[in-house]
Amino acid sequence: MSMTLIIIVFILVIYAGAIFLLNLNYPLLKWDWEAIDLKKIIFPKNFTWGTATAAHQVEGGCDNNNWSDWENSFDKSGKPRIRENQTSGDACCHWDLYPEDFDRLNELGVNAYRFSLEWSKIEPEENVFDRNVMDHYSGVIQSLIDRNITPVITLHHFTHPIWFDKKGGFENSENRSYFVRFCTKMFNEYSDKVKMWCTINEPGVFAVMGYFTGIFPPGKQDPKLTAHVIKNLLETHVQVYHTLKNLPNGQDSQIGIVKNINQFDPWRRWHLLDWVVSRINDHIFNTIFIDFFEKGQFKINIPGFIQTSHSNSKAVDSLDFFGLNYYSHSYMKFKPSLNEFFEHQFPADEIKTDMEYTIYAEGFYRAIQSVSKINKPIYITENGIADKTDDRRKIYIERYLFALRKAMENGADVKGYFYWSLMDNFEWAEGYDMCFGLYEVDFKTQKRTLRKGAERFKEIVNQR
Ligand code: FCB
Repeated sequence: MSMTLIIIVFILVIYAGAIFLLNLNYPLLKWDWEAIDLKKIIFPKNFTWGTATAAHQVEGGCDNNNWSDWENSFDKSGKPRIRENQTSGDACCHWDLYPEDFDRLNELGVNAYRFSLEWSKIEPEENVFDRNVMDHYSGVIQSLIDRNITPVITLHHFTHPIWFDKKGGFENSENRSYFVRFCTKMFNEYSDKVKMWCTINEPGVFAVMGYFTGIFPPGKQDPKLTAHVIKNLLETHVQVYHTLKNLPNGQDSQIGIVKNINQFDPWRRWHLLDWVVSRINDHIFNTIFIDFFEKGQFKINIPGFIQTSHSNSKAVDSLDFFGLNYYSHSYMKFKPSLNEFFEHQFPADEIKTDMEYTIYAEGFYRAIQSVSKINKPIYITENGIADKTDDRRKIYIERYLFALRKAMENGADVKGYFYWSLMDNFEWAEGYDMCFGLYEVDFKTQKRTLRKGAERFKEIVNQR
């Protein structure tokens, strides 16, 4: 055998071995849905059932935050930032219509509601707190309690006041203190009645969309800054957690972060470069967060691109629960281009949602397993489908709740599930075209109608 042949055989063996090990360590889970009985999905009696919303997406009148200018701006090529130049505007008028919306929670039979406080309305100028707005939220909380619904507050759900943004928002570590002050004030105000708190919603999405892809404000495209913002948000969470725990009511409150898990699998399971891009994405979107809470280590290691490492021992002790959002799974295909070195692919046999991803409930199961490593109780703080024609919602609900139940039967400590969303709302850069609601909203009349596909959710919730 010539030397060249030996080298070629050697390389092929190493390549095959690497692919074999990758396939072994990261199997693609697929269930045979035809053979699964989705009729009997029964949850424990004490399970928390809820729906979720966020202020900017439903309240209306959010015109003093980082999204308000953004919604009226254009990118360099003159394209509007939001699909078809839509703006959040009056949204669902939930600011005024919340009492009737909460009747709908009773109609669904859920016992919890996750919503966010709009910081820009509460503190419209630096250190000026609006008493009327704070009283409004007291009314919201009381109205939930009157209906036997547990209020769950999110303190930062993608939006913050313009004055905070002008100071550089979460790009500057020094700005953390403003958010900590806001959270402290809110906790002092509402923690007598609110016992479950989410600090920051999806820090990864906020940072990647705002600082890497530039699809969210402030529209920057800077990988190093993205890493810095992620780290800053995680550090902010730790600081907020320990501050609130030390306030009156802190010890009997549950405080956690909300993080989405995005899954990435290689499009071609024999292609090393597809594996490389899917593992890199998994590292950025998932592993760095899980490691932070599991080991107190913040480490990004993409040689030649971003390498940063930092530790904080207080992180491991900064969660009473882990809030898991789960929506998407993508297949990554390597692309030989310097600008974008991968593309997303979707298999023909998976059902598409209206967003750029498919229905893949096995991914929900995998996501729950992956965050179980942190060893904290889990709440599913968001999960739902954009389905305008309402012909996939039922199957989505059945499959995802089946996957959740199975994960629990196999040991996952999941305490509750919040469907995203109670009603159609302003879906950020996608505007009003993505309909995630259990209730359909007619935005001209503000009429809400329970969708047919949502009936299955109601049935499972009420099987308690
Ligand atoms: C999540 C966001 C939430 C909503 C859903 C569809 O990433 O937290 O506000 O937009 O996606």
